[in-house]
Amino acid sequence: DRRFDFVLVTSRIPFSNHTKGFLSAAGAGLDQILQRLVSERKGGWVGWARRDCDLDRVEPSPDLSLLPVMLSEREIELHLEGHCNSTLWPLYHDAIERPEFHRAWRETYRLINKRYAETVVHAAAPGATVWVHDYQLQLVPEMLRERRPDLRIGFFLHTPMPPFELFTKLPDRGEVLRGLLGADLVGFQGRRSLGNFLLLCRELLHLRTSADGVEVGGRTVMTGVYPSSIDVVAVEELVGQPRTERRARQIRAELGDPGVLVAGIDRLDYTKGIEQRMVAYGEILEDLRSVASPPAFIQVATLSRERVARYASLRERVDRLAGRLNGSYGRMGSPAVRYTNNALDFSEVVALYRAADIMVATPLSDGMNLVAKEYVSSRVDDEGVLILSEFAGAAAEFGEAILVNPNDTGKLKDAILRAIAMSPGEQGERMKAMRDRLRARDGHVWAASFVAALQAASSRLADKG
Ligand code: G6P
Repeated sequence: DRRFDFVLVTSRIPFSNHTKGFLSAAGAGLDQILQRLVSERKGGWVGWARRDCDLDRVEPSPDLSLLPVMLSEREIELHLEGHCNSTLWPLYHDAIERPEFHRAWRETYRLINKRYAETVVHAAAPGATVWVHDYQLQLVPEMLRERRPDLRIGFFLHTPMPPFELFTKLPDRGEVLRGLLGADLVGFQGRRSLGNFLLLCRELLHLRTSADGVEVGGRTVMTGVYPSSIDVVAVEELVGQPRTERRARQIRAELGDPGVLVAGIDRLDYTKGIEQRMVAYGEILEDLRSVASPPAFIQVATLSRERVARYASLRERVDRLAGRLNGSYGRMGSPAVRYTNNALDFSEVVALYRAADIMVATPLSDGMNLVAKEYVSSRVDDEGVLILSEFAGAAAEFGEAILVNPNDTGKLKDAILRAIAMSPGEQGERMKAMRDRLRARDGHVWAASFVAALQAASSRLADKG
């Protein structure tokens, strides 16, 4: 039984049999960032392994050990599909869809959080650093502290932290807050989430908060804002390959070399604003009926959480919308919208970023939106326009994007039309400013700065004690 000085805990481990080595797929997202973080520290990664991951067949790595948590079918249903994705996910995203509350789901969530915590308790070396991620595992920090007060425990929330009025709808709201406060450092994507958390600690638990964090039981739980990010170099490497440019040109050729190509790439999730975007695009096509070559539009909406009812009904609505757009504005051989639910290879995604003149990342609510960051990092030519929702965490860093409220169809249309009309000079200035900022604070910097702050937070406690 090996023990680890660094342990990462995420809801699931992003590994499968389909590719050699550990990584489930190529990419530049958080899976890749976290894999490097754990490997550099020769650490352990605790998480649920999907059924398609036969752990015996995963190639062992000297640098990274998988510490799987097993979930039964019933537990997946109650914990993941139930409490995580039908209670917490909608509640934490502005209750865009109505959250459902069930006692059996909460009980299973607690049980499963305990199982993750137990796995860490057995795997962590004395004084180890443990980093727990996201809304699926909010009770783990306190459970860990009870059993292993020697550990340095960090927690990072990838989703927004909801405001008081929403969070307090949770029947187990106090337990969730106390769960998070088991950590030495709690990190958020943005200032508003941090503010919501501090207010909840004051109002709900009557705790004292300061610029540093929250006073609880004689210790200070440090808090901070750590906007998550991507592996910029991984995107730039792909962009630098001739085959990526070839594929980008080919994508445009396949679309009949449109004057303007608009693209959206999302998980098929009701938080992403896909319907609002399609409606706005439809109105543009209506306005441009007499124009010979209207802008082309690609929407990739990769299937996600398919067994959750709200996702199935969203799929039906979006299918219908895409069908209506094509029925009304498409012609034989040239549909109005290219719409797919299939996941693209990462190289294909990057080729699409390179091909798209305009990227529309317009979620109704989103912790960060890494698609926006990937698009910006792929535009090494400083061309292209990003249309970004005010409600994406990324808006705090991308003031040079065209920022919109996606609920305002008129403004969304205006934004697309403005993007179409934007001069190359203005596109370049805006894109370069965003790219420079992104390169200075990419995903590896994000991960390293969180871990450094976590280690500083706990050494401060040690000094005190
Ligand atoms: C969001 C969440 C992640 C989650 C991912 C995919 O990005 O913040 O924690 O893993 O969606 O969702 P899934 O339910 O398939 O894990």
